[in-house]
Amino acid sequence: METTQGQGSGDGYKYEVVKGNIVSAVESGALLPGDRIPSLRDMSKKSQVSITTVMKAYLELEREGRLESRPQSGFYVRPNCRGIAAPRISSPELKPTRLDSFHFQFNVLNAMADSSIVPLGAATPATELLPLTELTRLSRQAANGHENAYGYEEITGNRKLRAQIAYHMLEAGISAHMDDIIVTNGATEALYIALSILAGPGDTVAVESPCYFGYLHILETLGIDVLEIPTHPESGIEIDALQKALDAYEIKACILQPNFNNPFGCLTPDDKKNEIADLLASRNVSLIEDDIVGDLPFSGVRPHAITSFSNKVDSVFISSFSKMLAPGFRIGWIYSRNRHEELLKRKMAVSINTNRPAQLTLAAYLSAGRYSKHLKNYAAQCRKQVGLVSAAVAKYFPENTRLSRPEGGFLLWAVLPEGIDTDILYTKALAEGIGIAPGSIFTSQNRYRNCVRLSCAHPYSNKIDRALKRLGELAQESR
Ligand SMILES: Cc1ncc(COP(=O)(O)O)c(C=O)c1O
Repeated sequence: METTQGQGSGDGYKYEVVKGNIVSAVESGALLPGDRIPSLRDMSKKSQVSITTVMKAYLELEREGRLESRPQSGFYVRPNCRGIAAPRISSPELKPTRLDSFHFQFNVLNAMADSSIVPLGAATPATELLPLTELTRLSRQAANGHENAYGYEEITGNRKLRAQIAYHMLEAGISAHMDDIIVTNGATEALYIALSILAGPGDTVAVESPCYFGYLHILETLGIDVLEIPTHPESGIEIDALQKALDAYEIKACILQPNFNNPFGCLTPDDKKNEIADLLASRNVSLIEDDIVGDLPFSGVRPHAITSFSNKVDSVFISSFSKMLAPGFRIGWIYSRNRHEELLKRKMAVSINTNRPAQLTLAAYLSAGRYSKHLKNYAAQCRKQVGLVSAAVAKYFPENTRLSRPEGGFLLWAVLPEGIDTDILYTKALAEGIGIAPGSIFTSQNRYRNCVRLSCAHPYSNKIDRALKRLGELAQESR
């Protein structure tokens, strides 16, 4: 980062210069969200000002929400700190809803799968970010080296893979026995199985609001009503609101994604995770914890799962390799300390077992010991891409747009000014070959019509930049 030499006379002027340099470095993309900024000593030397002056500038930038200090480590650029405001806490109606929105979601999902459109809609990683050459090699090896590679797998899943999954779950703070893990057809089947044993038609399940549209689709299919809980865009579900909902309604389960939820990308802090675990345990409400992108932290620190915080909460933990390695393998898993038999019975009814060649390949990949390195590089890429898309939104989208500040994963949630209808924006953008996910599919209520989820899962390019610019123009035109 280039710094302007402090030439002014007073201290006040000098600290403004230090501040200004950092702000412009962030705004130009030279410093990305999550980047460590020069230490007080280095900055003081570079800018030829005292350490006290630099400290004053850093503290003010921290107060303004542009920097964050990390104990014993220094100051870092805050995720999405380009002066664009964060979304407000959501405020859905605290009342169960019966769902009937599948049709529109189906169209949007189909458009997301179309590889010819600019991929700002689908939460699907770019192939160049995944270790596909290695997976292809291991897949061939697995097929040749196994006497029945294309046969049925054990119902619970491949042993070697389950052992690797159990080992990997230690990163999320969960000490799971491999025999309590069931391999599933993606997180989707895991969610379906979990929901179908925890609730039935006419029951109510609580979710964050907005939430991943797949939850709504599964709930609708099972005839389960959904209760959307107000959610903080930077710390997840609001505990007071959850408590109120639990007081008012009989809720069978709560689906949460505390580690980089879809669509906000926020991280629920540990103390809040603890409180949630205690609250659900005290009310005998089951937790379905979706940890599908917990392995993609921007800070480098893999957050723990709520499931690891308490043995008392009746938790069903779900994840998959769809966002980390290979969406097309359709390999996910489900883990529960005390519901294994029920889950297994349901899994047998739904699909008996899961794709063996894919499991053999993943078991070989995970055993080779390169997964952690892949995740580290991949998370760094996602952090960078989220930073660049955030900068483009700040530049191109209408004034007063708000934007989430994800701490992991690759999703952004933009709240456009009132009056812009993102269902219409979605249709117009699609006609120009640009994919987005309109806010309306993330709720069971008539909400988020001025919101849009943007996926940053692809390396930033001129094509993506042009698409974001065009989206900004289309949004302006529709005001
Ligand atoms: C939060 C969340 N959970 C679950 C899923 C489904 O994952 P899978 O492709 O493994 O079925 C997705 C996919 O986008 C997701 O975003």
